[in-house]
Amino acid sequence: DKGNHRHFMEKEIHEQSEVVSHTLSHYIDFIDGKVKKPAESIDFASLSGLALSACGTAYLAGLVGKYWFERLARLPVEIDVASEFRYREIPLNPQSAALFISQSGETADTLASLRYCRDAGLKIGAIVNAPESTIAREADVVFPTLAGPEIGVASTKAFTCQLAVLASLAIQAGRARGTLSEAEEAALVRSLSETPRLMANVLNTIQPAIELLARELSKCRDVLYLGRGTSYPLAMEGALKLKEISYIHAEGYAAGELKHGPIALIDENMPVIVIAPFDRFFEKTVSNMQEVAARGGRIIFITDERGAAATKLETMATIVLPSVDEIIAPMIFSLPIQLIAYHTAVFMGTDVDQPRNLAKSVTVE
Ligand code: M6R
Repeated sequence: DKGNHRHFMEKEIHEQSEVVSHTLSHYIDFIDGKVKKPAESIDFASLSGLALSACGTAYLAGLVGKYWFERLARLPVEIDVASEFRYREIPLNPQSAALFISQSGETADTLASLRYCRDAGLKIGAIVNAPESTIAREADVVFPTLAGPEIGVASTKAFTCQLAVLASLAIQAGRARGTLSEAEEAALVRSLSETPRLMANVLNTIQPAIELLARELSKCRDVLYLGRGTSYPLAMEGALKLKEISYIHAEGYAAGELKHGPIALIDENMPVIVIAPFDRFFEKTVSNMQEVAARGGRIIFITDERGAAATKLETMATIVLPSVDEIIAPMIFSLPIQLIAYHTAVFMGTDVDQPRNLAKSVTVE
């Protein structure tokens, strides 16, 4: 049932504040300011590394997770798309664990990667949304996302719930490995506790600006997304979402890679969506944005209040989100990215919930 919404995708985008809240509450004790110690988890303290694998949007969630595990828990993460991971003959250290991410829990390549790691003797964790799925059944430890059924082929609420689980696990790992103090844990938990309210605020306010922008984007053939740090996987996620439902060609690049090739594409016909919260990387990303502007590129700037105040550049559109702590920025910045793809597709009249050539769950390789 779509309720008051035109599409399941729209409904699922708007459910995110609620389902992320459910998911976070499963992993975090907000009263104590601590991540919960689940009866069964991965023994992060003793790990030499973590192998991570998934497909599509779930893979991009994993890529955000890599930044968190490495920074907060000093845990090296080896990550790849499952279709490569399973055939790369990766030398796996039995001191590491493996983590797979899947909404459906049935993706063929992700399942094959899981079995590869299990045969190598690794402890297997799985972040899954479908609790009865094959991946959930074959994992040693299941970390559920409580997103509820996701019907739209484009993954939205499953993605932000995967991020919520990954953030919780990275904090858990940081505590176990002694890289996060109790006070640091409490501060991160405090930030996470604000996520649902902030998501609801953003969803209630940015729609009009996005609809205007989507009308412009629907006339374009190509769109480039740029980001740094955890905004880099988000840039790829934005591009994936746009191409899958609007059929507009889009690419997501690390902002620092602009000069290494894609800058040759810049002209007034290819808008550049820059994802830049006011974080450690902000100045660097802004200088990439200036390079785009200097070559006549049109910029769509997705930033926060502090970032908007700190930049004077002329843009095609600036989407301003609340200024939030670094750990929750990927969840908050996912929202405009999803809505841009959604509204652009609606303008173009494509079949948003069931885009051509795609299936919700990819059970063949
Ligand atoms: O069910 P899974 O999470 O394993 O699916 C993985 C991908 O097929 C999926 O995320 C796909 O990329 C989405 N359609 C993207 O919106």
